[in-house]
Amino acid sequence: ASGENVASLLLAWYDAHARDLPWRARPGDPAPDPYRVWLSEVMLQQTTVTAVKPYFAAFTRRWPTVEALAAAPEEEVMAAWAGLGYYSRARNLVKCAWAVAERGGFPETESELRGLPGLGDYTAAAVAAIAFGRRAVVVDANVERVVARLFAIAEPLPGGRKAIRAAADAITPQQRAGDFAQAMMDLGATICTARDPRCLLCPLSARCEARRSGEPARFPVKAPK
Ligand code: ADE
Repeated sequence: ASGENVASLLLAWYDAHARDLPWRARPGDPAPDPYRVWLSEVMLQQTTVTAVKPYFAAFTRRWPTVEALAAAPEEEVMAAWAGLGYYSRARNLVKCAWAVAERGGFPETESELRGLPGLGDYTAAAVAAIAFGRRAVVVDANVERVVARLFAIAEPLPGGRKAIRAAADAITPQQRAGDFAQAMMDLGATICTARDPRCLLCPLSARCEARRSGEPARFPVKAPK
């Protein structure tokens, strides 16, 4: 396995250990539904997977498509969002649903997605990769931590983000970029955790510079406050 690259090691791990999350494609589905991917990524922007799950279930039951959401009275969407917080996300959600319904579906490229209300760099990259299989570099806090450790990037955040992003770009595969992104997120959430990384279970441990250093939890380095 030492000749195998990080992406193939990680994708093999994901095939065996992916978390079963409701917005992911089910076995037999040709691809995940872009509406469900977008809705989940907006909900997950500042909220944990555990807190998002019941809201995601309620929204998709009540509004199964982006057209249904676009047709809903705005105050009903705002009321259904209550409890998730950061209400500008809900206002942008409605605006984005209007725009997508108007143009007849989600755009498929990262740059077009970035033009939609509420989609920043992270969300546009995540939807392009996960829903449309486009190669995009998807970096959230979990991915940042995994990459900083893999390459023992010692430059403190926030300045170190540039090097982290470049390293993430270098290991992102052409194929299965969406699975790769979600595999990095799952690895960060379940194994390469902030406080207490479980390196013995990690498919990338043989490649990890931070592990080799003996102090994996030291990365990513944060600038002193
Ligand atoms: N956090 C944000 N998006 C996610 C996803 N698609 N899978 C797992 N965790 C996530």
